[in-house]
Amino acid sequence: MRIRRYAPADLDAVMDLFRESVRRIAIRDYSEAQVKVWAPDEPDRERWAARRASRPTWIAEIDGDIAGFTDLEPDGYVDMMFVHPDHQGKGVASALLETAESEAARLGLDRLYTEASITARPFFERKGFRVIAPQTVSLRGMDFINYRMEKRLA
Ligand SMILES: CC(C)(COP(=O)(O)OP(=O)(O)OC[C@H]1O[C@@H](n2cnc3c(N)ncnc32)[C@H](O)[C@@H]1OP(=O)(O)O)[C@@H](O)C(=O)NCCC(=O)NCCS
Repeated sequence: MRIRRYAPADLDAVMDLFRESVRRIAIRDYSEAQVKVWAPDEPDRERWAARRASRPTWIAEIDGDIAGFTDLEPDGYVDMMFVHPDHQGKGVASALLETAESEAARLGLDRLYTEASITARPFFERKGFRVIAPQTVSLRGMDFINYRMEKRLA
């Protein structure tokens, strides 16, 4: 596995991976209607491109395939952590989180925080995050339960 920085040419692959991961993995914990709103058939490509360009994003590659991606906002917020359904349970998210954590340490941040899906909560707990509070967030008119979680950095 190789971790590298995202480049604009990765946009379509990353958008596809996001949709697959939500629709095939997060569907274990959310309804069909919810995953279709979360990962719509026609996502806003411009908005995606702008978001990726606005913060560091890292890609995990396995044999040249994009297997997962994550990102880090300047205040320690991890917005995205998605692994392709064909590459679950291989340590992809672990490697990505390690990279984000190293960058956070380099920036002198004292914590990472996220809003973890029900699906991702056990992963983040395994990695030393604790739940601050469950919450209900509204996305395009649909309610989702997720968890505000944080990890204090040494
Ligand atoms: C959550 C997710 C990112 C984990 O990715 P992954 O590459 O499979 O995770 P890893 O292989 O690095 O797992 C690391 C550890 O977390 C544990 N873990 C991961 N997912 C888990 C789960 N659902 N339940 C329990 N443990 C889990 C693994 O067992 C592993 O433990 P170990 O260190 O003892 O072996 C992935 O399942 C995913 O993409 N989910 C759907 C999308 C999603 O909801 N993303 C989060 C949005 S906030």
